[in-house]
Amino acid sequence: MVKTTVSLIKADVGSIPGHVTVAKPVMNIAEKKMAEAQKAGIINSYYVFNAGDDTELLMTHSKGENSPEIHGLAWETFMACAEKAKKLKLYGAGQDLLSDAFSGNVKGLGPGVAELEFKERGSDPVIVYAADKTEPAAFNYLLYKIFADPGNTSGLIIDPRMTCGFSFDVLDGKENKSVVLRSPEELYSLLALIGATETYMIKKVFRNDDGEIAAASSTTKLNYIAGKYVGKDDPVCLVRAQSGLPSVGEITSPFLHPYLVAGWMRGSHWGPLMPVGLKNSKCTLFDGPPRIIGLGVQVSDGMLASDDDGKPMVVDLFDDPAFDLARQEAMELASFMRMHGVFQPARLGPGAMEYTTLPQCLASLEGRFKKEK
Ligand code: 13P
Ligand code: 13P
Ligand code: MG
Ligand code: MG
Repeated sequence: MVKTTVSLIKADVGSIPGHVTVAKPVMNIAEKKMAEAQKAGIINSYYVFNAGDDTELLMTHSKGENSPEIHGLAWETFMACAEKAKKLKLYGAGQDLLSDAFSGNVKGLGPGVAELEFKERGSDPVIVYAADKTEPAAFNYLLYKIFADPGNTSGLIIDPRMTCGFSFDVLDGKENKSVVLRSPEELYSLLALIGATETYMIKKVFRNDDGEIAAASSTTKLNYIAGKYVGKDDPVCLVRAQSGLPSVGEITSPFLHPYLVAGWMRGSHWGPLMPVGLKNSKCTLFDGPPRIIGLGVQVSDGMLASDDDGKPMVVDLFDDPAFDLARQEAMELASFMRMHGVFQPARLGPGAMEYTTLPQCLASLEGRFKKEK
């Protein structure tokens, strides 16, 4: 049986105003390119949306992960979007497109990518997460809660297909090496790593007893690639649900409360991750607070399950009063953090700041320091 691949590829191709949100004419181009690709049979279905100022392409196809054709399509689409953004003089047009030449795979170029390839079950719900003004390691806490904390996911103790636990593929983003750790057996070692969000980020999650893929997240860190600040590595993540995997409600329930993530203004501050519906997918206050979109789809015969008009059915999960408490708490936390101005811990430590320009501001002081006796 052919496997289905779900690819979520994103880039900041230019935004309005500043880093707030994606402009409609830019989204229209992405939509048009995706429609053409579907017609040409390159992809089976798609959904274009935005997470703050990031343009997000959700696609289904049968070409597997890291397909040059699919990544090439995303690249071409983003280039066309960036061209429009440049014409309109939108902000940071093409900021995530670090290279002029596409080399077969968008990984390491700038765009973020999360992909899941699986043999379809009787029914396949997939949850799509896309965040703005934060980094891939922002999903460490989320994926830990979903796949390793029975306090969040009661299926870990109630569903006999889940009691085996899950394995986490963890990337060391600084050394570019990875390690797989099993939960619950190696939970403490796992937490020792993924709690250090400055360095470690979860790439993938698998079910222990059969290696079934359960989740994938993007791990592009733009400043590690470019060597200097070019924009934040706003992350995406795909999580499969139900029937021996966490239920949809277990995948969303970590957002009963917000938690602090690195990013926000100039990629240099801690801020609460606020779950919002698509209508609030814009980063306004201090370029934030960092926001996350959660969409629910069903994958069906290689497609996003569609309505009678062929339109994919997408459920905007956080557009719901159930997340009002998290939003309220997020704003209280945002207010508290902002009271600290540029003082740590509101400001990130020097190693974690995505803007790598602070040393330039301090360079002129170098000669003025006198050695203490
Ligand atoms: P499943 O076994 O179908 O995943 O049921 C669990 C559930 O839906 C709880 O919300
Ligand atoms: P983005 O990474 O979302 O473009 O944000 C950049 C920024 O500096 C916001 O203050
Ligand atoms: Mg931007
Ligand atoms: Mg962004």
